[in-house]
Amino acid sequence: MTGPGYDGGVIEPTAAALARLYDLDLVEDPGDGDLYRALAARSGGPILELAVGTGRLAVPLAAAGHEVTGVDIDAAMLERARRRAAAAGRSVERRLHLVTGDIRTVRLPGAGSFRLAFVALNSLMLLGDRLSQLAALATMAAHLAPGGLAVVDVWLPDADDLARFDGRLSLEYPRIDPETGRLVTKIASAVHDAATGTIRLATIYEEGRPGEPAVRWFRDDRLRLVSADELRAGAEAAGLDVELVAGGYDLEPFGPGAERAILIAVRR
Ligand SMILES: C[S@@+](CC[C@H](N)C(=O)[O-])C[C@H]1O[C@@H](n2cnc3c(N)ncnc32)[C@H](O)[C@@H]1O
Repeated sequence: MTGPGYDGGVIEPTAAALARLYDLDLVEDPGDGDLYRALAARSGGPILELAVGTGRLAVPLAAAGHEVTGVDIDAAMLERARRRAAAAGRSVERRLHLVTGDIRTVRLPGAGSFRLAFVALNSLMLLGDRLSQLAALATMAAHLAPGGLAVVDVWLPDADDLARFDGRLSLEYPRIDPETGRLVTKIASAVHDAATGTIRLATIYEEGRPGEPAVRWFRDDRLRLVSADELRAGAEAAGLDVELVAGGYDLEPFGPGAERAILIAVRR
């Protein structure tokens, strides 16, 4: 039987489907690639990406000639990163080292030798609570060589965003997944809890072909909001000297109305 969610009669595991759908979310490029390429050119390697996901950033950095280690807790995401590196060629595959681990606690054999370590695209927020976020900053610091660069990128939702996060359903997109040819409709519902500074994000992906039964995939995330000041304080406490907090990927100055905080810090 073939159809949505099936591949030659085998039902796609949920983790694999969610990793595939993560890449479908990111067919719209967030625009952060040039920043990491420029920072990697400045720092040199080896490079550590914490929460590497499907290798969206790590694979191009390895293709640019850097030794890159990527850590992630999700084996299905890492499997896609492995396939992305393989598709980029043998030399890229050789330069990308993928490790299953928890970025709050992982300590790699190369700790203390990395020239650049980063947590991209809101991944710090996904850790969900303050102590976990501080632990991830400590992991970055523990892996950097003195003088090495740490980079963290978090989203700063504004008052209008937060007001919309009241549980209402919103249509994020209908989009064809180029890998499967199926139509994917993404619907999300977010709830902001001001007391804990968290956003509970429930996402439903419905996919199928016309006339076939649809398959639904569900994911549930908890994001903890982090202010630029808190990020700065957490980095300093971890042993990093803050060089810059920027408001966007072009490193425009941080200020009122900034949609993100991008911290660049140097290991003492
Ligand atoms: C938003 S994705 C970012 C992926 C990639 N950095 C990028 O920019 O495309 C967040 C990633 O964080 C990973 N993650 C969440 N909690 C983690 C943890 N405690 N340890 C390691 N990885 C974690 C998830 O598995 C997921 O791959």
